[in-house]
Amino acid sequence: ARLSTVALSLMCGFSAQSMASEVDTAQLRELSRQFFQPIPQVEVLVQERQVDPTKVELGRWLFFEPRLSASHIISCNTCHSVGTGGADNIPVSIGHGWQKGPRNSPTVLNAVFNAAQFWDGRAADLAEQAKGPIQASVEMNATPEHVEVTLRSIPEYVELFAKAFPQDQEPVSFDNMATAIEAFEATLITPNARFDEFLAGKDTLSVTEIAGLNNFINKGCVACHSGINFGGQGYFPFGVVKRPGADILPVEDRGRFMVTNTASDEYVFRAGPLRNIALTAPYFHSGEVWDLEEAVAIMGTSQLGTELTDDEVKSITAFLHTLTGDQPEVVYPTLPASTKDTPRPSP
Ligand code: HEM
Ligand code: HEM
Repeated sequence: ARLSTVALSLMCGFSAQSMASEVDTAQLRELSRQFFQPIPQVEVLVQERQVDPTKVELGRWLFFEPRLSASHIISCNTCHSVGTGGADNIPVSIGHGWQKGPRNSPTVLNAVFNAAQFWDGRAADLAEQAKGPIQASVEMNATPEHVEVTLRSIPEYVELFAKAFPQDQEPVSFDNMATAIEAFEATLITPNARFDEFLAGKDTLSVTEIAGLNNFINKGCVACHSGINFGGQGYFPFGVVKRPGADILPVEDRGRFMVTNTASDEYVFRAGPLRNIALTAPYFHSGEVWDLEEAVAIMGTSQLGTELTDDEVKSITAFLHTLTGDQPEVVYPTLPASTKDTPRPSP
């Protein structure tokens, strides 16, 4: 109901097909501010959330640490490369022993703002999340014991954990590892997107991008993709109106149903966050769609029940490109050497 009132008030005086040039930019900015918030600067977030710099430093080592995996070749960065939009840019992730996982890897960039983690929301927060892949046999295939023995065998880690967790009797633990990675992930955010500058009052968007933003709001994308991350907050059936074919929505992955066991959760997935979406092809939990325009058109038919016109698809896609922010400049850590007590890699 809220959406249609908004749509009406915005289009008041225009026809639904109004040209981009007829869109009142100031009004559109006001309206956008009701739906979306900008990504803050890193320093602001770190201060607001009291993120501890020694944990961030330890977390940076751990994020790039391949010895957290059984094979010693897979780190978080393997599937969430901070150099490529925080994702791996392949359909479904390849993990331990070259096994294919079931789903596309979501970006870790701005993940700190997602209320719902994973495609099906099964992790409560980033720390809980970080413990998953290390133990998953198709991902890193390690155990908490392997991780603890490994980290305790390396004096530089023992020292850094002690600094980051000074209150703890036994600072080197699996839980503390997850906490440190979570702290590091809080710094992986992407401020200064052109859209955020537009929100702040600058005229940074082209006529086509403005038309795209207008369509994004008025066609109804905003119903599921809003807030700071343009998604990542709630769950919806993939195919509210029309379920996509099995090539895009494989039948065996029943989404949130597998977490809740509730019939109405069949093929329910998290509305993906759309920040930096231009950098993280291929799309959807199956990773079966490479072209962002195609993904937008699919959303039109599956979620809105509308065949978007070519112009609408193009303008919305152009608008989505304005959600790419400054990518974090992460210094690759020089990791400490293994010792004679460090477990050897296993195949
Ligand atoms: C999901 C972090 C290792 C593949 C996620 C998410 C985060 C994350 C934060 C949720 C993002 C979101 O929902 O918005 C990490 C960390 C890792 C790690 C900290 C290291 C400890 C890996 C590895 C792989 C991988 C090694 C590939 C082998 C995936 C996939 C998902 C995911 C496929 C989506 C799973 C689903 O929704 O069912 N990861 N990740 N991750 N990650 Fe990782
Ligand atoms: C996923 C855009 C409308 C729910 C996506 C993705 C894009 C997108 C680009 C892929 C994200 C990724 O792979 O990381 C749009 C646009 C819309 C729209 C442009 C308007 C034309 C909606 C609506 C809903 C919705 C109205 C809810 C009813 C979802 C869900 C996913 C998704 C659940 C995840 C699908 C999956 O892979 O399982 N959207 N969306 N979207 N969107 Fe939308």
